[in-house]
Amino acid sequence: MSEVLYRKYRPQDFGEIVGQKSVVEVLRASILKNRIAHAYLFSGPAGTGKTTVARIFARAANCLEDSPEKRPCNKCEICKEFFSGVGLDLIEIDAASSRGVDEIRSLREGIRSLPFRAKYKVYIIDEVHMLTKEAFNALLKTLEEPPAHVIFILATTELEKVLDTIISRTQHFEFRKIMEEDIQKALDMIVRKEKIKVDEEILSIISVLASGSLRDAESMLDQALAASVGELEEEEIRKLFGVPARDLLLGMTKAILERDIKSALWIVHKSSEEEVDQKSFLKLLIRNFRFMLYLKIDPAYEKELANFISESELNAMKNFAKENDIKKFETVLNNLNDAYPLLKIAYLQQLPLELAILKIAGQ
Ligand SMILES: Nc1ncnc2c1ncn2[C@@H]1O[C@H](COP(=O)(O)OP(=O)(O)OP(=O)(O)O)[C@@H](O)[C@H]1O
Ligand SMILES: [Mg+2]
Ligand SMILES: [Zn+2]
Repeated sequence: MSEVLYRKYRPQDFGEIVGQKSVVEVLRASILKNRIAHAYLFSGPAGTGKTTVARIFARAANCLEDSPEKRPCNKCEICKEFFSGVGLDLIEIDAASSRGVDEIRSLREGIRSLPFRAKYKVYIIDEVHMLTKEAFNALLKTLEEPPAHVIFILATTELEKVLDTIISRTQHFEFRKIMEEDIQKALDMIVRKEKIKVDEEILSIISVLASGSLRDAESMLDQALAASVGELEEEEIRKLFGVPARDLLLGMTKAILERDIKSALWIVHKSSEEEVDQKSFLKLLIRNFRFMLYLKIDPAYEKELANFISESELNAMKNFAKENDIKKFETVLNNLNDAYPLLKIAYLQQLPLELAILKIAGQ
């Protein structure tokens, strides 16, 4: 594979965007009604589609296709020009690498001239929170009176670092983490297109570890493919990403629910011997206990889960849900949830989970 997956599978039109339903709906509607704002702000976690949607919108706003619902057509001259990245009317600025006032100043001069060929000149400013204060102020000035032929799309992963005065001058869209189930579906589509055989279980593991970022998921799939000879083996993949084996996970779930400290600590010990990544371990435990809570509260949730969890795993969860009460799941989740952020500062990676086990047993 020559091209990395996350580039190869960058969506080309609104229909291919995974999740981000309300963002896509509103942007599509604004194309249909030809009501285009002059400044947009896309905020949200990394790898959730901000730059991708910005580029699609830039093309759609300028596309020459007659029927608006088909924009971007990705075929007309303007779409092609924007695609190639060399078009003079699409300017992408990465504020993380060019933080200076100079860039914004030349931008201020640039926006005065009319677009070359397109209807709108589009400026995509990525990681806008990284601009220096002076550059921010300069940008603010341009946002105060943007010329009619310019569209700004600002993107950021750190909304709290963007000045309120900028936010208030833009149409703000919040991108969300992508649901595990949707990530798994997207990965599934990729492996089918690539004609590679990958076990659902592996895609499921990657979807959990990606924590809502489709780019991370696609990179992990790349990594997995690069590391394997022939067909991907679940065991191999678990080792590669430090994911606990299924029996460890099940064993731990059982030990925690039975307040069996001795077994639980042995499993922690075994997990570090097997080089399990404690972050993945906690993530998977939290995810599973949360699913069990859902199953306890409404067994009908089983149908939802069946879409992306293997039958044996689901059966085990159903049994645990039957045998334990809601309070128990609440206690476990509370303590595991408290343990998770401690991983960042813990002297030993096993300690947060070990302490959580003790606390749960005492409650
Ligand atoms: N919502 C999504 N739908 C489909 N693909 C996505 C989505 N989000 C991310 N991807 C995949 O991840 C890649 C990177 O996405 P993108 O560059 O749009 O993320 P971003 O939100 O701009 O991230 P960053 O904050 O790191 O700049 C895309 O090329 C695509 O393969
Ligand atoms: Mg981006
Ligand atoms: Zn077009």
